[in-house]
Amino acid sequence: MGYLETYRRSLDDKEGFWAEAAEAIDWERRWDRVLDESRPPFYRWFTGGKLNTCWNALDRHVAAGHGERTALIWDSPVTGSARRFSYRELRDRVAEFAGVLKSLGIGKGDRVLIYMPMVPEAAIAMLACARIGAIHSVVFGGFAAHELATRIEDAKPKVILAASCGIEIGRILPYKPLLDAAIEEARAKPESCVILQRPMCKATLVRGRDRDWHELAAAARPADCVPVEATDPLYILYTSGTTGVPKGVVHDNGGHAVALFWSMRNIYAMEPGEVYWAASDIGWAVGHSYTVYGPLLYGCGSVLYEGKPVGTPDAGAFWRVISQHDVRVLFTAPTAFRAIKQQDPEGVLIKEYDLGRFRTLFLAGERADPPTLVWAEEHLKVPVIDHWWQTETAWPIGANSIGIEHLPVKRGSCTRAVPGWDLRVLKADAVGEARELEAGEIGALAVKLPLPPGALPTLWQADERFVDSYLKTYPGFYQTADAGFIDRDGYIHVMTRTDDIINVAAHRLSTGEMEEVLAAHPDVAECAVIGVADPLKGQLPFGFLVLKAGVRKPAEEIEREAAALVRERIGAVASFKRALVVARLPKTRSGKILRGTMRQIADGEEYATPATIDDPAILGEIAEALAKAGYTGNRAR
Ligand code: COA
Ligand code: AMP
Repeated sequence: MGYLETYRRSLDDKEGFWAEAAEAIDWERRWDRVLDESRPPFYRWFTGGKLNTCWNALDRHVAAGHGERTALIWDSPVTGSARRFSYRELRDRVAEFAGVLKSLGIGKGDRVLIYMPMVPEAAIAMLACARIGAIHSVVFGGFAAHELATRIEDAKPKVILAASCGIEIGRILPYKPLLDAAIEEARAKPESCVILQRPMCKATLVRGRDRDWHELAAAARPADCVPVEATDPLYILYTSGTTGVPKGVVHDNGGHAVALFWSMRNIYAMEPGEVYWAASDIGWAVGHSYTVYGPLLYGCGSVLYEGKPVGTPDAGAFWRVISQHDVRVLFTAPTAFRAIKQQDPEGVLIKEYDLGRFRTLFLAGERADPPTLVWAEEHLKVPVIDHWWQTETAWPIGANSIGIEHLPVKRGSCTRAVPGWDLRVLKADAVGEARELEAGEIGALAVKLPLPPGALPTLWQADERFVDSYLKTYPGFYQTADAGFIDRDGYIHVMTRTDDIINVAAHRLSTGEMEEVLAAHPDVAECAVIGVADPLKGQLPFGFLVLKAGVRKPAEEIEREAAALVRERIGAVASFKRALVVARLPKTRSGKILRGTMRQIADGEEYATPATIDDPAILGEIAEALAKAGYTGNRAR
């Protein structure tokens, strides 16, 4: 069956389509209903069904005689180590650590927060939670203590798992002081913390609360898989919202396992036993879906890479990993390729490795700019596929589903809607009713409900926020918060976010949250943060500060303090390096800050003075302040 027929069937016969896909998963008890529509807009998949995600990811491959196949390959240039785990070994390590969690009183439905770098124990911890029905919440290591604290506060984990440190290029980053500060700040306290002591940095343990990972593991009794409801949460992954309170995106067990398995075959065209590599931190959605769950559910080997595309040791790192571990498909963000291209523009290092068996490169996380895409195609000589998805969806909405049919590629488009996703382009009319736009017209990219299996059923203990954030603007639809169009050939073009989210090196960040941090500076009266173009990271945050009357401190000092404040409150990952003191901010007559126009000025783009502007002279002042500060714009090439 080709793409069009498969797509139509997925929408015309949703239940038949997904029931068939669900046959690929081992169920402890079959579902009563494939799609439960009894409580719209809260749709649930496979209600009444029981399964265990860890069983499906590990034990069942061992039971099927594939215990010696490669499950996980840890490749860590920053420590000079590499390690391969077979399915049997990984299952045993996971069962052992599930025993540790049980001994700490963790059971079904309890939350376990994981704050760890790219070490095998992080994946083991996630799977161990799944094994006993606990809900994990992984927090990216580049976030600061305050961000960690907000997540602890919301998820209320009984146990926190952390490593003594992470390693960035040439730097050891102790995690424990951040963890201690976060626990201090959060009102919800964990009962215990389990600390993985890495040899390069030993953490001091807090007596009575902190336990040593290896000591507990050595004494643990392996734990078996606990069947859970298909609709029980597997994990919570926090993502930037428009305020300082991140959104706890929930993914359940049943629909998630079915959809991810389906995607490995039909989108990525993988075969069980082959090696797949998603070069993303496990703290992000890509790491959850395609470093841990997707490849393992499907019986593939998965690479867990503790390194960077450049600097560990050079721009040939990705090619070394691909050839050394026989990677067939790589999934990464365009920013990684921009970094490689910057350092090795002629692709000289590519020729040093045998990439003969490497098949396809998938890109996501931000818009794939055509020059980067063309560079990758020309140098790797494999299809380069841009695909589009979000933390909320857990798997792609738009892609070239090459396992079904390899459609012609159009540069600048992520190809077509993936089966299961009823994607439309909408605009609210004068009375607020959603109107569907014609081919080629730009509007809000929205998915008609119900969302397919695997997508978020709600936000953690926040049904109302879920509805308000995603379902309210266009009743009956999920609002992706991306704008774009679908062309006459049905190809999707994702253009920009419609909210305050920016993508910095494919890391999703909220400018609203940065504004909250800056507004707390004692000398700042008001502020605005925008995302300016950057040739490496795609976008970078840039802050404009208006000072309180009578502030005597030099502007440069306040600008430096502002950058330090964002780094301290949100983390290094925000890459907030530039702030500029200005006299006034441009606003509409109703007082709305004109961030879009400020971005156009900063990026050196043509702009029209908005008709609603209160005082057009301020735009000139902004341009002047930028020029005076030596900022001439940095449009992506
Ligand atoms: N723990 C602690 N700090 C971290 C971190 C982690 N896990 N990850 C990043 N940081 C720090 C970096 O050291 C850097 O600190 P600095 O300002 O002191 O230099 C800062 O956060 C910004 O990191 P990053 O934006 O990643 O910049 P970089 O210069 O270190 O690397 C790239 C740039 C393009 C090489 C890198 O972003 C990359 O590999 N991106 C791939 C995309 C990706 O993984 N996307 C995830 C979703 S697909
Ligand atoms: P995250 O939740 O961190 O995965 O970020 C999701 C957001 O990244 C989307 O809403 C888009 O704005 C952006 N994004 C992801 N993939 C693409 C893509 N292929 N093209 C354009 N934008 C993308």
